[in-house]
Amino acid sequence: MTDPGPQLIGTVVPALDTERLRLRPLTTDDLDPVHGYLSRPDVCRFLLHEPRSREQVAESLARAVARTALAADGDGVRLAVIRRDDDQFLGEVVLMVESAAGAGAEIGWVFHPDHAGRGYATEAARTLLDFAFEALNAHRVIARLHPDNEASIRLCRRLGLRQEAHHVGNCWIPDRGVWEDTGVFAILRREWAGG
Ligand SMILES: CC(C)(COP(=O)(O)OP(=O)(O)OC[C@H]1O[C@@H](n2cnc3c(N)ncnc32)[C@H](O)[C@@H]1OP(=O)(O)O)[C@@H](O)C(=O)NCCC(=O)NCCS
Repeated sequence: MTDPGPQLIGTVVPALDTERLRLRPLTTDDLDPVHGYLSRPDVCRFLLHEPRSREQVAESLARAVARTALAADGDGVRLAVIRRDDDQFLGEVVLMVESAAGAGAEIGWVFHPDHAGRGYATEAARTLLDFAFEALNAHRVIARLHPDNEASIRLCRRLGLRQEAHHVGNCWIPDRGVWEDTGVFAILRREWAGG
């Protein structure tokens, strides 16, 4: 069997088009829309941080735009999700290296509530899964989420990810000063048929 590692590591994540959407690397010009959702308590409820100030979002964007390729475990590329017919900024998805040695990738998503309930997150995540399995030759893709995040769990199930774990009190959230649980969902390359 060939070593699948090199494709997951080092590949530049390009812009990806779907039927309704364009996924493209975030830029510093995206500060307003990204701050628009990352400053909201309802959006951050199940994220690993509290609502962010404009300065905090600007700092995280600066780090994000510096990374367009995956280089090591834990690295992630954040992609803006834009509606193609009117250029509306909807949210973002992220593609991370979970384990280079295991050809494992991780995906995540955050959308503005104004654009919920229309399948945009599903469409964007499906494209990211296609990219992970086809272009990066990933063996397994996971999503980690708070076990109370029902919208995210439904999204995982729509994509065909199965729940593999519920870790109890394993995740320290510095902003909140608490240990939280984590649900782990996963799908293997051989199971993926485009969702
Ligand atoms: C998680 C999150 C992205 C899910 O958003 P969402 O709007 O439920 O997901 P989608 O855009 O895929 O829309 C799916 C919903 O639209 C409906 N829908 C309408 N048209 C659809 C279409 N063409 N295709 C698929 N679903 C469609 C689905 O039935 C589904 O509704 P349901 O969940 O009530 O069954 C969103 O809740 C979010 O950003 N939350 C805050 C951040 C967060 O918690 N991120 C995850 C951290 S792990």
